[in-house]
Amino acid sequence: MSKSFVLSLIFAALAAAQSSVPSFTASVAPAAETVTTVSTPANVPLFDIETVQLTDNVVAELQSNPEVAEYASLFEFGDANSTAAVRSRHARSAQRCKTMPGDALYPSKLVWALTDLLLGGALEPIVPIGSSCYPNSTYNNYDAESYEDNGALMNPLYYGMTCPIPASENAANGACTQGGYSEYAVKIKNVAQIQLAVNFARSLNLRLVIRNTGHDYNGRSVGKGALSIWTHGLKEIQYVENYNSAAYSGPVFKVGAGVQGFELLQAAEKYGVSAVAGICPTVGIFGGYSTGGGHSPLMQLFGAGSDQIVALEVVLANGRFVTATQSVNSDLYWAMLGGGGGTFGIITSAVVKVHPKVPVTTSSWTVMTSETVSAEAFWELVTFFWESFPTYNDAKTYSWGTIMKLAPGTYLWNMTPFFATNKTIEEFETLVEPLFKKAAELNITIAANTTHYDTLYPAYQATFATYNYYIGGAGAIPGSRFIPTENWANETVLNQTFAAVQNAVEKAMMLNLYHQHTADEFDKGINSLNPAFRNLQAQLVAIQSVTDMTAAGWKAGDDALNIETMAPLREVTPTGGAYGNEANIGEPNWQQAFWGKNYPRLVGLKKKYDPTELFYVHHGVGSEGWVVQDNGIVGVQSTDGPLCRV
Ligand SMILES: Cc1cc2nc3c(=O)[nH]c(=O)nc-3n(C[C@H](O)[C@H](O)[C@H](O)COP(=O)(O)OP(=O)(O)OC[C@H]3O[C@@H](n4cnc5c(N)ncnc54)[C@H](O)[C@@H]3O)c2cc1C
Ligand SMILES: *[C@@H]1O[C@H](CO)[C@@H](O)[C@H](O)[C@H]1NC(C)=O
Ligand SMILES: *[C@@H]1O[C@H](CO)[C@@H](O)[C@H](O)[C@H]1NC(C)=O
Ligand SMILES: *[C@@H]1O[C@H](CO)[C@@H](O)[C@H](O)[C@H]1NC(C)=O
Ligand SMILES: *[C@@H]1O[C@H](CO)[C@@H](O)[C@H](O)[C@H]1NC(C)=O
Ligand SMILES: *[C@@H]1O[C@H](CO)[C@@H](O)[C@H](O)[C@H]1NC(C)=O
Ligand SMILES: *[C@@H]1O[C@H](CO)[C@@H](O)[C@H](O)[C@H]1NC(C)=O
Ligand SMILES: *[C@@H]1O[C@H](CO)[C@@H](O)[C@H](O)[C@H]1NC(C)=O
Repeated sequence: MSKSFVLSLIFAALAAAQSSVPSFTASVAPAAETVTTVSTPANVPLFDIETVQLTDNVVAELQSNPEVAEYASLFEFGDANSTAAVRSRHARSAQRCKTMPGDALYPSKLVWALTDLLLGGALEPIVPIGSSCYPNSTYNNYDAESYEDNGALMNPLYYGMTCPIPASENAANGACTQGGYSEYAVKIKNVAQIQLAVNFARSLNLRLVIRNTGHDYNGRSVGKGALSIWTHGLKEIQYVENYNSAAYSGPVFKVGAGVQGFELLQAAEKYGVSAVAGICPTVGIFGGYSTGGGHSPLMQLFGAGSDQIVALEVVLANGRFVTATQSVNSDLYWAMLGGGGGTFGIITSAVVKVHPKVPVTTSSWTVMTSETVSAEAFWELVTFFWESFPTYNDAKTYSWGTIMKLAPGTYLWNMTPFFATNKTIEEFETLVEPLFKKAAELNITIAANTTHYDTLYPAYQATFATYNYYIGGAGAIPGSRFIPTENWANETVLNQTFAAVQNAVEKAMMLNLYHQHTADEFDKGINSLNPAFRNLQAQLVAIQSVTDMTAAGWKAGDDALNIETMAPLREVTPTGGAYGNEANIGEPNWQQAFWGKNYPRLVGLKKKYDPTELFYVHHGVGSEGWVVQDNGIVGVQSTDGPLCRV
């Protein structure tokens, strides 16, 4: 088919839709059927919501229903060489950018109304979460009741700061616009809705994003003008005590893609097992966390987040619903676990390993320079702590702490907490005895608050879960670095490394310091986890604060972070890497930093599973051909612009 013929076909459909055609009768039924085959190679039956699917039968019904036949092709699958696939390929090659609201080819209100009917009413406009704070916005929802938000990002910087949650009353007199927020969300309640949305977006070359909680550090779950697949409502958790497959036998959970950290840990507590989740209770475990790596207090015992997953149910870019395990679609399984969220397909559920419950000893403390604690003594103690990381990791413990320079020569070290999994208080105290002895020699008192818990959940509740990880704050930019094992092997290198750590504290507002190591037994190439994630003793996340919140101010802050803080850390860790989920949006040489030697294979699989480049996330696998043209609106890359080919 020629390009112009194809375009005229689309135009005809859309033009008809723009004209005075009356709206569809509400009798247009949702495009879905309930399939009877519930078993899959994942070896746990589909959830009910996964049996409600878009099938070839359903598409055929659309094609033969006179009321909607004209539009049926928008919802066809994109199987290789199908009419729908060929047509959308042509449409795409005629357009440099994804279709935006306002473009001639953007679906009309009528087409959206039909789509909503076919989705069973799951389509929702996205309204910026901050808009109810603005008396004078076009959303006209001032002081509206708060609601479960379908479109917000934890950090408003990345959608362009176009409707910030005001820090002061004055801010509320400003403007609130859609900016880089997505346009519509599909509030997912079944698999058919995902398939329809995928087919629709692919057919019309719409920008598509997948959003679970919006916690992504770099705004990769929103996009200007995008249709957003909102998976947050997929909350089921099913315990299977005697799971069995070729790859793994033992207890598992089958979990919906919307399950968050606190829900997973609560379920683990209930069933007397332990499960792997990060330190923020509200992070989604089967959206970004497990696909991007996943560090946690249990990683030394049980491996990274990606290592926990035995099987995935996934909607592909062509709209088809498939299973991925180590033996079925094994290349997709490999790519999706480590290759990052929003890139290869849309997860609806995962079968995830659970483990014996473990007791935990937690210990928190604060050390600060003072009249009796000189900066020199402070650093000597922190150096000693740093040098002990291999010992702490060998003991299979984890810690998160922060170090800050409060003023020249004034430093604060918060241990928030040391998380000694599978340790009694005595075992923990033996482990840290040399550190406490060193402190005593330096006349530093470590007033540790040490508590033992029989299982992980109460330990987590008393520590990590008490921090306020709020949505909406902005004022800082992160940068991440994994510090590999060899940086402890040679004293010269160790000293150089610590000098870069100390420099980071001098330059950044805060340095987050994790001692962590991924259990070695999973290093068998079963997934695409960053090799640097398997060879580390520490992760550092430096936070640059920005007070001048203009585009120039943000840019200057980001440059300062990358040049003054991160570059010296990168220099001393040539075999290190960075954590894609907690990285700087401008991470240089990100392909190497996030995936190392796995990158070329990942790109090949991206081409295989998403040949139409439906899924895009910034610095995602295979995203090099695209750019969000935001005109430098906030000084770092935001989602606030059309998504176009480079
Ligand atoms: C306060 C805080 C603390 C954190 N602590 C930790 C920690 O301890 N350990 C750790 O490893 N990480 C941690 N993180 C980082 C966290 O892992 C990432 O932010 C993660 O990407 C969040 O995933 P999400 O699904 O909740 O977020 P979202 O922003 O909704 O999604 C993240 C990415 O995953 C994609 N995605 C979402 N759902 C799906 C799906 N169903 N299928 C396919 N792709 C999908 C999105 O498109 C996006 O690209 C923390 C983050 C925050 C904000
Ligand atoms: C699609 O068409 C191409 C070129 O015409 C051909 O090489 C390929 O094998 C076809 N694929 C399928 C799945 O039919
Ligand atoms: C409200 O917005 C309009 C249009 O942007 C503007 O003209 C008017 O001054 C604003 N009013 C207030 C009180 O900010
Ligand atoms: C916890 O430690 C005990 C020994 O103290 C060991 O037998 C057990 O296997 C450990 N548990 C895990 C999950 O590693
Ligand atoms: C610690 O205090 C003791 C007694 O006040 C003093 O003798 C010693 O020099 C101090 N040590 C350091 C490292 O400050
Ligand atoms: C000690 O830590 C526990 C959490 O582990 C906390 O509940 C308690 O309030 C802390 N006590 C003090 C004195 O800070
Ligand atoms: C330690 O590392 C330095 C710097 O890379 C190198 O010059 C030196 O030879 C190494 N020493 C040993 C004992 O390997
Ligand atoms: C490393 O630093 C320590 C403390 O500053 C110093 O004593 C030691 O000589 C240094 N080692 C090397 C090889 O530079």
